[in-house]
Amino acid sequence: MKSWGRRGARQTKQLGGLRGIVERFSVAMVVLLIGTIWLFSKIRSTSPSVVNRDIDVNELWGAAPSAGWRPSSVPRSSWPTPPLESNGYLRVRCNGGLNQQRSAICNAVLAARIMNATLVLPELDANSFWHDESGFPGIYDVEHFINTLRNDVHIVGKLPEITSNGKPKKLKAFQINPPRDAPLSWYTTFALDKMKKHGAIYLTPFSHRLAEEINAPELQRLRCRVNYHALRFKPHIMKLSHEIVNKLHSQGNFISIHLRFEMDMLAFAGCLDIFTPKEKEKLTKYRKENFAPKHLVYKERRLIGKCPLTPEEVGLILSAMGFDNTTHIYLAAGEIFGGDRFMKPFRALFPNLGNHNTVLGAEKLEDSAQGLVGAAVDYMVCLLSDIFMPTYDGPSNFANNLMGHRLYHGFRTTITPNRKALAPIFIDREEGGMVDFGERVRRVMFNSELGGPHKRVQSESFYTNSWPECFCKTSTESTDDRCPSDDELRVPEDRFHGNVSYLRQF
Ligand SMILES: *[C@@H]1O[C@H](CO)[C@@H](O)[C@H](O)[C@H]1NC(C)=O
Ligand SMILES: *[C@@H]1O[C@H](CO)[C@@H](O)[C@H](O)[C@H]1NC(C)=O
Ligand SMILES: *[C@@H]1O[C@H](CO)[C@@H](O)[C@H](O)[C@H]1NC(C)=O
Repeated sequence: MKSWGRRGARQTKQLGGLRGIVERFSVAMVVLLIGTIWLFSKIRSTSPSVVNRDIDVNELWGAAPSAGWRPSSVPRSSWPTPPLESNGYLRVRCNGGLNQQRSAICNAVLAARIMNATLVLPELDANSFWHDESGFPGIYDVEHFINTLRNDVHIVGKLPEITSNGKPKKLKAFQINPPRDAPLSWYTTFALDKMKKHGAIYLTPFSHRLAEEINAPELQRLRCRVNYHALRFKPHIMKLSHEIVNKLHSQGNFISIHLRFEMDMLAFAGCLDIFTPKEKEKLTKYRKENFAPKHLVYKERRLIGKCPLTPEEVGLILSAMGFDNTTHIYLAAGEIFGGDRFMKPFRALFPNLGNHNTVLGAEKLEDSAQGLVGAAVDYMVCLLSDIFMPTYDGPSNFANNLMGHRLYHGFRTTITPNRKALAPIFIDREEGGMVDFGERVRRVMFNSELGGPHKRVQSESFYTNSWPECFCKTSTESTDDRCPSDDELRVPEDRFHGNVSYLRQF
């Protein structure tokens, strides 16, 4: 609990409560109305009313100011247990990586709930990229999942056998490719009809198949119950993650960074000019094979914030913010493209770097931390780190889900570099204009959200920011936001700082 004092100080200094946020938001709204997006960013970055300019980085080790909010996702209104009589079975195939699957699982539970369907344990794509076939039971604690959601949906391990002409036979699910971001009504009409007719339906593929913005706070809270309570990694993953977190915490605080400087990302982004001709060729080839053709100009891409930060840029940002070279950093990343050439300048600034293969010593994780398991360990360590920093955020990506989870986990500090605002500063530096580099970077960094409660902006996913639906206040006029009295699922804020017995509850 080393961070309590600093945390209090930051609380008063930085925001002064939710009113600060609301005020800043109204300012932003007015500006939006009278001006262009350009004007918006210009005014926000130079306005003296933006208060979090000169933060002492030591204050960031604690959680962000909560303004009285705490996570809560139990129902706040009448929530009947699912009817005994089911309308049929719902099978889904969740494609994509760990995090895409995670939100798909939440969506599947929601769909089953509104259809009064029995959910078959979601199938996780044997992901070709990760070469992983461990599936749901290989990653998540099935018993905990079913038990946590017992008042929400009926869940079974697989489709039952039926008897047809006196012979046992497997029930065959009717296959449907659901529309992207389908509204709730698609499930209660079209999909439900098919389910009633065939007894079971199979939705495939099932990533982003249910709209994220739905006007139904109780259902949004169900999403949070799934994501933040029911989905618990298996004991061996939790154990490994705790060992890493404990080891790092034995040396003090640490920052986790999702360093998305990997081949697929760079090829997708089309930010090629910093690479050698050979590397460029590799990226171009990968792009051609995996993504739709698009004319991409590095300088333009960078200026609109579409290029992932390089490891060196990450280092420069952290040192400009005031972190010194003793800071411990955990890197969640696949293989860094371009290898050591890019890591060297970062390591020169921050020599205390580790990842899931190095923190506990090399051999230990080599076998176990592959594919989804490796991603799951990274997920847990990033969730429990004191500070988290993504270097690229896109829909349904590792970083976005983690930002949402850290918010729910007691407003743990998240540093989100505004790549678009930083690009011209980096370009000036490269062209020799170094004079006020640090000050300019600090201004951008401390003018962004740092992980406290804030209104979801249009570009933000519900899985990145579930405020206010999945949060409540003890003292408030608003009945919508008031904490329910029997809140058995609450996450005790800050109790997890290195507390293994608390962690076991996840
Ligand atoms: C689901 O069951 C509830 C009763 O528990 C009922 O009110 C609702 O209309 C049912 N919905 C569907 C789609 O069958
Ligand atoms: C860390 O920075 C200090 C100066 O701020 C320097 O003296 C020291 O050598 C650096 N340590 C490493 C390991 O780079
Ligand atoms: C750790 O968590 C457990 C369970 O929430 C709690 O009872 C205990 O007091 C905590 N210990 C510390 C040192 O915070």
